[in-house]
Amino acid sequence: MSDSAAMASVFRSGLLDGQVALVTGGGTGIGFGIAELLAELGAHVVIASRKPAHLEAALAALTSRGHKASAVSLDVRDPERVTAVVREIATQYGRIDLLVNNAAGNFYAPSATLSPNAWRSVVEIDLFGTFYCSQAVYPIMAAQGGGRIVSTSMTLHYRGWPMMAHATAAKAGVDALTRTLSVEWAPQRIRVNAIAPGPIPTEGVRKAFMPPADSGIPDRFAAAEDRMAEYARTGIPLGRWGAPRDIANMVAFLASPAGDWITGAIFVVDGGEWLAKATT
Ligand code: COA
Repeated sequence: MSDSAAMASVFRSGLLDGQVALVTGGGTGIGFGIAELLAELGAHVVIASRKPAHLEAALAALTSRGHKASAVSLDVRDPERVTAVVREIATQYGRIDLLVNNAAGNFYAPSATLSPNAWRSVVEIDLFGTFYCSQAVYPIMAAQGGGRIVSTSMTLHYRGWPMMAHATAAKAGVDALTRTLSVEWAPQRIRVNAIAPGPIPTEGVRKAFMPPADSGIPDRFAAAEDRMAEYARTGIPLGRWGAPRDIANMVAFLASPAGDWITGAIFVVDGGEWLAKATT
């Protein structure tokens, strides 16, 4: 049995029946993996993304399997739109049990020449967006007697990461926000946690491992796979790359009754990668 097949049966069917979940950046990659598992477990999932093509494909994939899902166009940097979308979801589906702040932007760039707009774009998506969405669901979750917020963090800011000033600063802010909101909103029974994923081979990561076009390597994709396999052997103590399902499992756990007494926690889900880097 493959790792992902084994993981498919971890949670009981119907675990999240009746829940309404909003997943930002839920059209692709880790976000879609999270949306998929939540829907498989019975939640109605609202996927939010800036890109209509991502929304259409993700929604078709979910609804064709009989899952309860809908899609909404949203740029998390726009607080007024965030509030309007969240209110609309609450009106339409009656509640919001879970917010997954997954939308993120990122790229490698030297700090010395990073433009103000480049800095702003990433910090606004990762940090401001997380705050805007969390603030928008607060009154709904408070009125219904509780809810869960799970934000996507990272591990790169634990040591600092050259060429990632914008993203590491933003995710450090997400960690601080997680801890602060968890205590501030505990009386309303809103659990606020975060997950710091390790390396998941999304398209961007594959590109980073791809040899340059002028490398003369005829099958560049195969070369990338070889380099990625080598990294799994040497850079990830548990010996494999992550899958969106690895992160989704943690979200489902936190959304389930098992997450009832967990708030303010930041869970590293990375096969041991960052600790291994920290010791080398
Ligand atoms: N290096 C340096 N600057 C970059 C860059 C790069 N690789 N990519 C974008 N920028 C700069 C742009 O030049 C622009 O700055 P400028 O106006 O001074 O030229 C600024 O960032 C905004 O870029 P733009 O593409 O207009 O913004 P956007 O809001 O449409 O996109 C980003 C947001 C920048 C985060 C974009 O990379 C993106 O949408 N990425 C897809 C999502 C993603 O990154 N997912 C990974 C999650 S970990």
